[in-house]
Amino acid sequence: MPFPFDIQNTEGRARTGVLRTPRGDIRTPAFMPVGTAATVKAMTVDQVAQTGADIILGNTYHLMLRPGPERMERLGGLHKFMGWNKPILTDSGGFQVMSLAGISKVKEEAVTFASHIDGSKHVLTPERSIEIQADRIGADISMQLDQCVSWPAEEPAARAAMELSARWGARSKAAFGTRETQALFGIQQGSTFENLRRESSDRLQEIGFDGYAIGGLAVGEGHQAMCEVLDYAPDMLPADRPRYLMGVGKPVDLVEAVYRGVDMFDCVLPTRAGRHGQAWTWAGPINLKNARFAEDQDPLEPDVPCPASQAYSKAYLHHLVRADEILGKVLLSWHNIAFFQALTAAMREAIAAGRFEAFRRDFHARHTSNNQ
Ligand code: GUN
Repeated sequence: MPFPFDIQNTEGRARTGVLRTPRGDIRTPAFMPVGTAATVKAMTVDQVAQTGADIILGNTYHLMLRPGPERMERLGGLHKFMGWNKPILTDSGGFQVMSLAGISKVKEEAVTFASHIDGSKHVLTPERSIEIQADRIGADISMQLDQCVSWPAEEPAARAAMELSARWGARSKAAFGTRETQALFGIQQGSTFENLRRESSDRLQEIGFDGYAIGGLAVGEGHQAMCEVLDYAPDMLPADRPRYLMGVGKPVDLVEAVYRGVDMFDCVLPTRAGRHGQAWTWAGPINLKNARFAEDQDPLEPDVPCPASQAYSKAYLHHLVRADEILGKVLLSWHNIAFFQALTAAMREAIAAGRFEAFRRDFHARHTSNNQ
């Protein structure tokens, strides 16, 4: 395995550990800020690093359209291009094709799609996705190309996507080969069908990956249904390798997924919601547009170690959001990323101290989702 994964403490199914990469350690549970188009939107890389993020995520789909893989390689790869020297994980592209591209067509050989930017036609095979991620972008962790069905899915459609993903997993692995300084993760699919998730993870483990992702969740099924899948899905994946829940999620989702054995997450939520005036706090999400903050002189979270969380009043943030000032988006994105990092740091500490169960109880007692 290129990247040793040292699990340091466990409590029930929850674990805390360190994934060791040549570009630095990734402390787990880890939240990866999303840097879709070679930027964590509205943040500098120094700000992102200061929040405690050990790794960020980039997107093959966006980067292959703009600036383009070959140009990216000529410019020295994504780390150099954006000035981020710590690890980068890239998503493989198929999922973004489904959600963003114009017309798209999935066949055994490849997914073909029209760019959401200019309508130009593109083809993504498992082999090309690996080439773009590992060789052109220079990702530390590449993801296999997969197909995710929308929710709700009938079992035959979910099976077909899971089986295609398994075959694309094998092709991704063959294209990736074995590398010393880069890793490849497989992606479990199977929608909400336990038998399909089982078959998917068996097939992935036969191929053999450096880490294993759980895909196909947070696609509209809701928190409860997602937790029901997480009651069994992480346990199907090897205990000694990192488990990554893709595209998740809200703080409550993270706590419940860590409780069920997940190690890594990514989500656009903190930055996207921040650009829309929403801030996460230990008491839950708040919307700074709300008139009740007009004269609130307290900061967002005095105990989150970030200037955006500590040094600006909610009254000021309310004003910036109402006036649609750029700084409002900058500060709320920064605060939200810092809050998600504080949340994963608190979970790591709680697991290490054997008090994660108490942490989870306290978190839910404090955190309400309807207090905006
Ligand atoms: N991001 C969120 N969910 C998924 C998924 O199922 N597959 C991929 N590749 N990316 C995702």
